[in-house]
Amino acid sequence: MTLANVARPLEELNVEGRRVLLRLDLNVPLNQGVITDDNRIEAALPTIRGLRQRGAKVIICSHLGRPKGQRVPNLSLDPVAFRLSELLEDEVIFSHDIVGDDVEFLSRDVPKGGVMVIENLRFHPGETANDADFSAKLARLGDVYVNDAFGAVHRAHASVVGVLDHFSEFAAGPLILHEVEALRTLLKGPKRPFVGILGGAKVSDKIGVLESLLHRVDSLIIGGAMAYTFLKAQGVPVGDSLVEEDRVKLAARLLERCAERSLKVFLPTDHVVASAPDSADRHVSHRIEAGQKGFDIGPESVALFRDVINNSSTVFWNGPMGLFEVAAFSDGTKGIAEAVAAADAYTVVGGGDSAAAIRKFGLQDKVSHLSTGGGASLEFIEGKDLPGLKALKLRST
Ligand code: 3PG
Repeated sequence: MTLANVARPLEELNVEGRRVLLRLDLNVPLNQGVITDDNRIEAALPTIRGLRQRGAKVIICSHLGRPKGQRVPNLSLDPVAFRLSELLEDEVIFSHDIVGDDVEFLSRDVPKGGVMVIENLRFHPGETANDADFSAKLARLGDVYVNDAFGAVHRAHASVVGVLDHFSEFAAGPLILHEVEALRTLLKGPKRPFVGILGGAKVSDKIGVLESLLHRVDSLIIGGAMAYTFLKAQGVPVGDSLVEEDRVKLAARLLERCAERSLKVFLPTDHVVASAPDSADRHVSHRIEAGQKGFDIGPESVALFRDVINNSSTVFWNGPMGLFEVAAFSDGTKGIAEAVAAADAYTVVGGGDSAAAIRKFGLQDKVSHLSTGGGASLEFIEGKDLPGLKALKLRST
C-alpha cells in the first residue's frame, strides 16, 4: 500500500473560510530571544502560504524547548511569530493564551487568509501529558486540523495525538508526507551499497538507530565523540577523550554483531587532538595520549570515509564528526558534508546537528533529503511506530 492510499492529503480538505488548527514544529534554536536558525520556519512556509491562498484562517501551534509546563519567558513563541510575519511580509496575530475563551474568540476573529500563532504549547502541562481536557480545549481553536510537524510526530502529546479525538476532518501536511516518503526509501529496498554514518557525542542516543542500521546497511561509519567509546571497546588508547564508560561493553557487542553480519565498520584512524578546545597544543595525530582529547576526526579519516561514501548508492548521515561549532574542529564534519553532497547516491541527512552542519557549509541543496526532524527521523529509522503518524492514520513503514 502506498502512502497516498492511507493519508488524506491536505488538498482534499475543505479549508475555505474555516479555522485550520495547524500543528508545526517551530522549535528553533534561540540565543537570548534571538533566533539563530530559522530553517524550521522557512520549511513551514509553503504549507502556511498554501492554506492562506485557499482562504483558510491559519491558527498555528507549536512547542519550543522543554519548559516543563511552566511559562518560561525565554521560550516564548513571540519572536518566532515575529519572524514568521517578516517572512510572510504580513501581519501575524500572537496570542499569549494557549487555550481558553479569549484565544478561542481571537481565533474566530482571524480573517480569511489571516495567520495567528498561539503561545508555546509546552507552557501548559496538559500538552506533554496528552491531557484529554487540554486536547479538547485546544481543538476548539480549529474547525479542521492539520499536522505538519514532522519533528514532533514521535511525541504522544496533546497537539499531536489527543487533539485528533475532536476532529472528523484532518490531514497530514506536505512536510510530513515528504519526510515519510524520503525516510521510507531507506527502510524499503534502498539502492545498494547503503552506508550509515553516525556521529555526535553519545552512543546512548544512537543505540536504537545503530541496532536498526545493523540490519539495513552494508557499511557503517562512526565518527564524532561516540567513536571514542567504540575505539576504547577495541582496546585503542583514546587518552582523555569523551567516553561513555557504561557503554563500552555495549559498543563491543555491537561491533561483534557487525562482524557476524560481515558488515564493514569504519572508525576514525586519526584525530584532531588538544588538551582543551581552546588550547594551543592542537594537532593531528594517530594516537591520543593521556591528557589529550580528540575533538574531530583527522584528514586521513576524512579521506577513508569519503571513499566509502563515494562508493555507495544510498547514504544516511546523522551526527557531526567533531566539535564543528568551533572552526578549529570543523574540518572533519565539513569533509563528510562535502562527500555526502558530492555523492552520486540517494543521500538523507537526519535533522539536529548534522542538518545544522550541512547548512553551515551551504550544502543543504546538494542532498536528496534534509530532514527537519531530529529525534523523529531517528525513531523513524529505528522502525518505531510513531504516535503522531499513527494518530493521522499514516503508516510509517
Ligand atoms: C526536535 O527538535 O527534535 C523536535 O522539535 C522535538 O523536540 P523535543 O525533543 O523537545 O520533543
